[in-house]
Amino acid sequence: MTDAHSEVADLVERKLIVYFDDAEERARDFATAIGYDVAPLNLAPNGWHLCLNESDLTLRHPDKQSMRLSLDDIRRRSLSGRRSPLSRACGVRDGMTVLDAFAGWGTDGLTLATLGCRVTCCELQPLVFAMLYDRIKRSEICSLNGIRVDVGELLADRMHCWDVVYLDPMFPLHPKTALPSYPMQVLADIADQSDTREIAEWSFECANQRVVIKNRIKDPPLIRSPDWQIRARSVRFDVYRANRN
Ligand SMILES: C[S@@+](CC[C@H](N)C(=O)[O-])C[C@H]1O[C@@H](n2cnc3c(N)ncnc32)[C@H](O)[C@@H]1O
Repeated sequence: MTDAHSEVADLVERKLIVYFDDAEERARDFATAIGYDVAPLNLAPNGWHLCLNESDLTLRHPDKQSMRLSLDDIRRRSLSGRRSPLSRACGVRDGMTVLDAFAGWGTDGLTLATLGCRVTCCELQPLVFAMLYDRIKRSEICSLNGIRVDVGELLADRMHCWDVVYLDPMFPLHPKTALPSYPMQVLADIADQSDTREIAEWSFECANQRVVIKNRIKDPPLIRSPDWQIRARSVRFDVYRANRN
């Protein structure tokens, strides 16, 4: 293999490539912004990969339906405003700072930002992060930023604090419940798994007001009993007062 080929193979291995179809320059600008590289689509791997064309960024897989993220669900969710369970659990106020520790596709983080919060979205998985970053840019909300980081490391540093640390960890798909939406199925396929209990405990060191943990409605709390709970149709928000009050 030539050097150039082994470089590409190496990047493919680490999944830090934006493949381009008809929009090399656009792909290059986007990839540079997030520190990724670019390659033509004919070099794409057999698994999930990013593809940017003239119209949008998609997550593609040779054997599965492609996925793109719209902003419609964010608009819909922000219509219920501060009455929504997520908003009540976080105690949303204008200018409040929120760390969305496990941001995924950013649906919760973007919703909180549309309600007036200043949100930092953390995502570790490179493909998920690229999709999240693109969604944040398209939303044009300036009180929102995305960082590709292991949130455990960010919290362990104790360099920053937020009013609320919000955690929506990945739970294995439940055999008895209906399949989640396609984007959530894809997330279950590719997302990173972490020691969420440990991260939840660290988050108390960096929260000024609350730590909020999203859970399945019938599952026990991830850590100790919460100070209170807010229930939605299929999920529950466990709310903890922060130590730093
Ligand atoms: C259940 S999903 C979050 C869904 C999200 N609330 C949404 O609205 O789309 C959990 C996400 O946390 C990410 N994750 C897991 N461990 C992480 C870590 N240590 N640091 C940052 N992100 C992590 C996973 O890759 C996954 O995308």
